[in-house]
Order: sequence, then C-alpha cells, then structure tokens
Amino acid sequence: MKDFNFYTPTRVVFGRESEEKVADLVKQYGGKRVLVHYGGGSARRSGLLEKMVKLLNEADIYTVELGGVVPNPELTMVRRGIELCRKEQVDFILAVGGGSVIDSAKAIGYGVPYEGDVWDLWDGKAVPQACLPVAAVLTIPAAGSEMSSSCVITNDEAGMLKRGVNSDLCRCKFAIMNPERTYTLPAYQTAAGATDIMMHTMERYFCAHQDMMLTDAISEALLRTVKDCAVEVLKRPNDYRLRAQIMWAGSLAHNDLTECGGEKDFATHKLEHELSAMFGVTHGAGLAAMWGSWARYVMPRHVNRFVQFAVNVMGVECDYTDLSATALRGIEAVEDFYRTLGMPTSIPELLGRPVTPGEIDEMVDKCSHGGKLAYGSLEKIDTTAMTAIYNMANK
Ligand code: NZQ
Ligand code: ZN
Repeated sequence: MKDFNFYTPTRVVFGRESEEKVADLVKQYGGKRVLVHYGGGSARRSGLLEKMVKLLNEADIYTVELGGVVPNPELTMVRRGIELCRKEQVDFILAVGGGSVIDSAKAIGYGVPYEGDVWDLWDGKAVPQACLPVAAVLTIPAAGSEMSSSCVITNDEAGMLKRGVNSDLCRCKFAIMNPERTYTLPAYQTAAGATDIMMHTMERYFCAHQDMMLTDAISEALLRTVKDCAVEVLKRPNDYRLRAQIMWAGSLAHNDLTECGGEKDFATHKLEHELSAMFGVTHGAGLAAMWGSWARYVMPRHVNRFVQFAVNVMGVECDYTDLSATALRGIEAVEDFYRTLGMPTSIPELLGRPVTPGEIDEMVDKCSHGGKLAYGSLEKIDTTAMTAIYNMANK
C-alpha cells in the first residue's frame, strides 16, 4: 500500500433545493463580484441560470454572465473570461454546468492573477501559483471536476491540443448538487457520464499498488453501484434515487478517495483526450471506445487483478482452471455493459469510420508530447504501446 496524502477540501451541498443556498455559500467564501459561467444553453433553458443570478443579486452580490462554453472547453473562451473578470473586477467564479464549464471556470480562475500567457500552465512553462475562488452548481455527473484538482482545456489556437493541469489551488470551494437537475440529460450524456465516472475509479483500481483492501472495497462498491444505476436510469430518467447515486459517485470517483494507497494510471484517459480534441467527441464515449483495447493490451501481464475486477465488479464466475479466460470475460462484460448503455466499444463505432494511419501518428505524437512522455501506473504506455492500442481500437 502506497503512502498517501488525501486532501479534498470541497464543501458538498447535496440534495433537493440545494441550489437555494447559493448566495449564502458564495458569501461564506468571500464572493462579492461573481462571474456566472455556463455552457451552450441547457442551464438557461432549465431556468437554473436565471435562478442563480436572481438569488445572488437578491443577496446584493454583483453578477456578470458568460455563456457559450463548449464540451471539451477551449482556450479562446478562457481568454474571454479572463478579460471580462479583470474588467469587472470579479472576485469569485460560479460554474453552472458540467465538467466543461467547471474546467473553463478553473482556467479563468488561474488566468486572472497570472501575468503571462495562461496557456503556459498547460504547456509546462509555468506552474499555477494562484487561482480565483471557483465553485460549481453541477448539472451533469461525469467529469468529477466539482471535486477534482484537475482542469482540462483544449488549445483551439494551436491545432486542438487537449491538456490537463493539476493543482489543489483550483479545487471548488463548494459544489451544489441537486440530482433533480440531471433529469433533463439526454440518454447519451447520461451514459457517457456514467462511463467517465466508472473510468475515474477503474483508472485508479488498475495500478501498480494492489494491496489496499479498503480502497478496493470502496472502488468495487462504487463501480457496481454506477453500473447498476446507469442501466436503470436510462429506463427511468426521473428516478431521484438512481440519479442521486450516480451524482454522488461522480464526485467520489474523482476526488482521489479511490486512489488512497494506490496510484493514478490514467493511460486510457490520455489516449482518449486526443480523440475528443481532434474529433470533438464526448469524453465518456471516447473512453468506452478505448478501454477494451487498453485492457486487452495490458491484461496478460496482470491477470490476477483483472480476475478480481471480473468477479467482484462484473459478476463473472471465476474459472480457477483458466484465470486468463476469466479476466477476458471481465473485459467483455464491460464492453457488453457499454453496448447496453449505447456507448461505442471501438473507434469506428465512435466516429463512424476508422481513423487513418496518419491520424494515429498525430494522436500518438500529441499524446506523448512528441515522444517525450509515457503514461500509466499498472504499465507504462509509451509511443509503441499507444500506437498498438489505437490500432487495436480501430478495428
Ligand atoms: O452546454 P450545455 O447546453 O449546458 O449542454 C451540456 C453539454 O452539451 C449538456 N448538459 C449538461 N447538463 C445538462 C445538459 N443537458 C441537459 N440537461 C442537463 N442538466 O451535456 C453536455 C456535456 O457537458 P460537459 O460539461 O461537456 O460534460 P462533462 O461533465 O462530461 O465534461 C466533459 C469535459 O470534462 C473533461 C473532459 O475531458 C471534457 O473536456 N474532464 C475533466 C476532468 C476534471 N476536470 O477533473 C476529468 C475528466 O476525466 C475529463 O477529462
Ligand atoms: Zn474522465
């Protein structure tokens, strides 16, 4: 079991009507002039945005709005937000939306006090030293950004480079989570969200350190819960109990709880980020398209771990005479589950066509930062492995 330092400072205000507390919470964390940041319109259509602004204004909190964040949020919007916050002397950013809006808010938060080009932080030229306080009113359980230290931005000015930067400075001060606000999610987004949630825990479960009994038990319970609830919620989108389990799981899956004693792998995430950057696909769907290929690539050298996963999470019966077959059945069970949700299990299913050899080379080059980086804890995925896995997923 690896030594660890667990820090998860976000206040979670969960439940029906939790958004009523927004003004008190903003005040508690010192906000007087607030940027209310949102996406393409779902928050406006549902009335949530208007409600947030009204509650803040009634409490004498000044607001300025900036909408239009796209899924896989872009640098151009971050720059607009930084300029607006400086002009309006904003001291607090409230993200109303999902991972894309929250990450855009975090990036703006980093950018306002930073004197250089904000992309320096993703480019490795600088490390974050400060961030305006950020908080979230979450409308989609998926990315887990409401409790994570991560901020993923796509540089749309430089060939759609998607990069993440991690720092506790950007962690949300609070996250308001009302499961009822997720009833309006399209089935595809619900499914992609559940996939992403599970992947955040699977990418910690499959790591080099595998003797953390309690963390394993938490992870396995989380994965079983999301798996079962995701299938059911597609049939009953307005079921509060199901939406609530998934929403809470989304935060726990990525607030590092399921990493205690272990280590992030996140190789599948790195491979996926190139797909969503280049082709604009939904992150969770991209993960579903890639995971089976990553798993088949690494499994032969980690059979026991895959057997534990197959039995404890996917309900596969263990064949003690053929553990590799059991491990493989676990991988196939995940892919069957993705199909049940309507998620793709290959790149052609994701994009409607295979990618070309040139596109694979480009993704490998971007993912590895020109061959300089390899990823993974269970196993290091270098450029050779990246190429092999993209090719496996391309069939
Ligand atoms: O833009 P609007 O109109 O709001 O529509 C959104 C968007 O189209 C819609 N939506 C959200 N809530 C809704 C709703 N539609 C109806 N009713 C609601 N209640 O859903 C679509 C997807 O939203 P988005 O915010 O993009 O989803 P998600 O939370 O999956 O975020 C994805 C982004 O987060 C990054 C991903 O790479 C991607 O860029 N990630 C961030 C992480 C982090 N910061 O910790 C970790 C993740 O691994 C991930 O990489
Ligand atoms: Zn993710």
